[in-house]
Amino acid sequence: MKNKKYKGRSTEAIHAGETLSTLPTGTTEHQVGKTGVPLLPPIYQNSTFQFQSASECASAFIDEESGYVYTRWGNPTQEVLEQKIAALEGGEAALATASGMGAISTALLTALAEGGHVVAMETLYSATFHLLNEDLTQMGVETTFVDATDLDKIESAVRPDTKVIYLESPTNPLLKLVDLAACAEIANTHDITSIIDNTFATPCGQQPITLGIDIVLHSMTKYLSGNGAVVAGVIVGEKGFIEHAQKGALRNFGAVISPFNAWLTLLGIPTLPLRFEKHCENALPIAAFLEEHPAIDWVRYPGLPSHPQHELAKRQMNGFGGMITMELKGGRAAGEALVNRLQICSLAVSLGDVRTLVCHPASTTHSHVPIEVRQQTGITDGLVRFSIGLEDAEDIIADLEQALGILL
Ligand SMILES: Cc1ncc(COP(=O)(O)O)c(C=O)c1O
Repeated sequence: MKNKKYKGRSTEAIHAGETLSTLPTGTTEHQVGKTGVPLLPPIYQNSTFQFQSASECASAFIDEESGYVYTRWGNPTQEVLEQKIAALEGGEAALATASGMGAISTALLTALAEGGHVVAMETLYSATFHLLNEDLTQMGVETTFVDATDLDKIESAVRPDTKVIYLESPTNPLLKLVDLAACAEIANTHDITSIIDNTFATPCGQQPITLGIDIVLHSMTKYLSGNGAVVAGVIVGEKGFIEHAQKGALRNFGAVISPFNAWLTLLGIPTLPLRFEKHCENALPIAAFLEEHPAIDWVRYPGLPSHPQHELAKRQMNGFGGMITMELKGGRAAGEALVNRLQICSLAVSLGDVRTLVCHPASTTHSHVPIEVRQQTGITDGLVRFSIGLEDAEDIIADLEQALGILL
């Protein structure tokens, strides 16, 4: 990123966006004559902002940079969060949203404002698949789903009216990787906006903008907040795109983050680099343990040499993350028996929590994906996904060992 202010990720996670200039300059009566500003960015838990005069108010409508007007248009707590995440992703600007899907829909509605065609990875988070395959299709947008691990398939799906290449890497739940630099090159050659959902990797695991991708999205519900208390999302990218999204799709469709959720997310970000390190440190020995277990057919973790794209993972990722997927030999019955028996690992959707979470995609997150699509994309009945938490790895392994024991 040009003009990068801090050398390290941890300093960035703690200090970026928290300069005094990001705090509103207006004083309130109780602040007059006193020095000292809050060390922790405060929550501006208000829907609207007041002005001293009609002309001051009028100029805030003409030049939005000059003041805050209404929280659906912007709020100081939200802005601190946005500047922090823009810095972490190495992007020019960011826009926080009410949820990950709020970020995904706002970004797609912005990039597809005039309609057009999308080339998308075939295995995507299920709601994103539905958004592209149903909601946006009803609005006249066509999507071609391809195995984006094969660059030729992306290239040959591109049409003259293609506006977006939409990716996840690692994908949910199969942890397939996409060569981001190569995809960005295809997108650039055809003047297409490239978008990636970077929720699984986090900005600590990979920075797609530095690899040439235009727009990065997150469900901040996951690793970025890390506390399991928030539903939130964010879009990061070039300033013009972010402004367009903010003044158009976000403001008018209304997927705005609440100041309280922005603040709760701000509490989580400073520990993201440390948490990410520990997620990675835990996941590798757990994946290695699972790979050796006789009840398990195969394990996917980008950090395992057996991952088909381990070399790509080493090249484009700074850490392999906390997500592990495996296929049980005993199919659905084994999956259900396993999750019923686990004690430390909690049976819950979502991911990126401090707790280890386990989920069975075929009966939960991907149950609404048509069976033929699930079979075609490898989301089988015996697939189990773990989001490895921050407990001690030896306790998680002991829990897995006792639960897997009943399958032998
Ligand atoms: C990869 C990915 N992207 C987006 C989302 C949607 O995020 P949210 O639930 O915050 O809308 C999820 C949710 O699980 C996800 O796993």
